[in-house]
Amino acid sequence: MRLVLLGAPGSGKGTQATRLREHLQVPHISTGDLLRAAVKAGTELGRQAKAVMESGGLVSDDIVLGMLEERLTAGDTGNGFVLDGYPRNLAQANALDALLGRLGQPVDIAVQLDVDTELLITRLAGRAQAEGRADDSPEAVRHRLGVYNDATAPVVDFYRNTGRLACVDGVGGMDDVFLRIIATLAPTPEIG
Ligand code: AP5
Ligand code: MG
Repeated sequence: MRLVLLGAPGSGKGTQATRLREHLQVPHISTGDLLRAAVKAGTELGRQAKAVMESGGLVSDDIVLGMLEERLTAGDTGNGFVLDGYPRNLAQANALDALLGRLGQPVDIAVQLDVDTELLITRLAGRAQAEGRADDSPEAVRHRLGVYNDATAPVVDFYRNTGRLACVDGVGGMDDVFLRIIATLAPTPEIG
């Protein structure tokens, strides 16, 4: 199964991707995690990405696509993958379809996690206290939510219009949300 997880910052993409990785036995590929690892390792790519990530903006499409292509061709995606944090704008959505088309591994389904803005802010404030992620400051969170509404929300329609979208209520316990996702993946029983 090749699954794309969509949702605003704090909607639970990472949390649910971890569960889906175990359930589907496929790698969890998070562009945010890959970028944070590059920043931590001090690579050239990480150096270029650091400031824009801390401000809550988007790293350039070229940088992220190159990094993603490298990851998707690492040889462990034969059973599929859970992609978290990509695509984040329409250009990335088209680039992903082109890349996966070349690899013969098209996206099966995009799952959108719906969570209201107030709860997103509460969750990210909680994580800021617990983990101190650099982009969980109130200013960066505001910026990330704005970028999501302006650039990433249209990606939801991109998958809806191509018949590949499932929307899931992302409010509630983590395991309850997971069960809702799984229910959207189960094949619909044939009627009659
Ligand atoms: P990225 O790492 O993708 O961050 P994000 O999209 O802002 O999302 P988060 O990781 O903050 O939230 P999440 O949805 O994963 O929620 P989580 O499960 O952690 O990207 C970071 C940055 O990298 C970007 O801003 C950009 O600069 C750059 N970047 C990444 N990809 C890029 C791309 N494609 N193009 C360009 N730039 C890119 O949950 C959040 C919190 O809520 C946690 O504390 C969790 O425990 C809690 N929580 C989760 N679910 C529940 C629940 N059901 N109930 C209660 N609490 C919950
Ligand atoms: Mg995440």
